[in-house]
Amino acid sequence: MLHISQKFKDMCEVNPHLASVVDYGLIILNLGVLAIGSNAFTRQQRKFPEDFMFGTATASYQIEGGWDADGKGENIWDHMTHTNPTVIKDQSNGDIAADSYNNYKRDVEMMRELGLDAYRFSLSWSRILPDGFANRINDAGVQFYNNYINEMLKYGITPMITLYHWDLPQKLQDLGGFLNPLFPEWFEDYSRVVFDLFGDRVKYWITFNEPREVCYQGYDTVTMAPILNATGIGAYLCAKHLVLAHARSYHLYKKEFAGDDGICGITYAMTWTEPLTDSKEDEIATELMRQADWGIYSEPIFSENGGFPKELTDVVNQKSKEQGFSRSRMPEFTKEEIEFMRGAYDFFGINHYTGVLVSGTEYLQEHPVPSMHDDINVGTFAPSDWPAAASSWLKQSPDSLLKILLLIKEKYNNPVMYITENGWSTRLEQGLEDDDRVRYYRAALENVLDALDAGVNLKGYMAWSLMDNFEWMQGYTERFGLYEVDFEDPARTRTPRKSAFIYKEVLRTRVVDHDYEPPSMIMTIDEGK
Ligand SMILES: *[C@@H]1O[C@H](CO)[C@@H](O)[C@H](O)[C@H]1NC(C)=O
Repeated sequence: MLHISQKFKDMCEVNPHLASVVDYGLIILNLGVLAIGSNAFTRQQRKFPEDFMFGTATASYQIEGGWDADGKGENIWDHMTHTNPTVIKDQSNGDIAADSYNNYKRDVEMMRELGLDAYRFSLSWSRILPDGFANRINDAGVQFYNNYINEMLKYGITPMITLYHWDLPQKLQDLGGFLNPLFPEWFEDYSRVVFDLFGDRVKYWITFNEPREVCYQGYDTVTMAPILNATGIGAYLCAKHLVLAHARSYHLYKKEFAGDDGICGITYAMTWTEPLTDSKEDEIATELMRQADWGIYSEPIFSENGGFPKELTDVVNQKSKEQGFSRSRMPEFTKEEIEFMRGAYDFFGINHYTGVLVSGTEYLQEHPVPSMHDDINVGTFAPSDWPAAASSWLKQSPDSLLKILLLIKEKYNNPVMYITENGWSTRLEQGLEDDDRVRYYRAALENVLDALDAGVNLKGYMAWSLMDNFEWMQGYTERFGLYEVDFEDPARTRTPRKSAFIYKEVLRTRVVDHDYEPPSMIMTIDEGK
């Protein structure tokens, strides 16, 4: 049994925030041990380490625009929004978006205003390789990224690059995209081109952003491009090729480009999942959902045994048999492939937004057969007293960021971690006073401090997002920016929200001051930063 020390109980009185996690055994254990001998523990005194990397994140299709500028090729989001515009809530697209293709200097100015250490952004594959293959490089696209990177470096801002944030060249999609077994080779070829072009100045690389959203949403459903809807087949097949592609890119980087200081990882969408009750059914359901959400993409790389997760594989094998398939819908790896992928990482990237309670018996829904959701057959529930954002899927779930960090620490032997996205959506009508976003960020940053206290090997935090952008199927109806973007204005003027000032103050002081109010809404650059 866990022993809760009197000292820890006293601390909870000083810091009511801690009391709210009292039911979470691991945390108690970790914090309880740490608290003894630490007197810098009250909320106001806790400081982020000087070398903790603070930044913001964006993605190419969501901000760049210039969809066909200067030789860029078509990608799957260009293709889908142009040929099938009604799939987007407001029938908009990313043709111009925040026009960062032309506004990149203003973007970097905003990074300086906030005092960022780092900026995470992604490369548009078809801007660099219009046909997807490495035979033809688009010099204008390369020039754009050189300008962006060099402008950041000029002001001491560290670039962190995502190789793939969902905008596959359409020509590769025409060949099957992630479902083609040659995809890992295509991705390695693209990786080589960009490591070669930018690797001299860029030392932080993420291969894929959110594999679940690529594979499950894109190939198994109709909720992301290329809306393939190959239910029960697409996600698993895509998963196999995605993790192999990651490993090829990782090994290439380490062998030929990383030098002493370059690091490469992969980023997962980590919704916190917790059993609804303490029943065996809910426990099993939670594990299956974790494996379907992210374990299928993380186990081959981060687990000791490698390969796809066992419980999910067993379920899919069994159901495939019952459904009359002559082989399992869950593809297999060779021994060599398993070894090649195992340990192919320098860090674990976490995009975290929200949490759900999971049940094996309640809240179940009808799903197509076969489909991944029919395979795992779980119900989810988010309590109505969790504050809701503009996005239907996004609620502020208590301490879910801390719980995720502790889970990964335990599960994968405390790997180096970066929070590569975390944020909150509002509607445009709300204006610049985004107090709900401020509340969300403060709670998340307290969780970051809790995690650091508990010994989590967490090295940085990127807020999503620097500015409003094209929110995929939701178009411009949901806003995640620290800066508002006026999408009616040809100049795409950017204006800081209240949350921008709050975030800036955290970065400046390295503490979370819950009473801080910005003296005005006028943003300046602190020189000397
Ligand atoms: C997707 O496929 C399932 C069958 O697996 C079908 O029931 C559903 O209607 C399809 N959705 C769309 C939008 O085509």
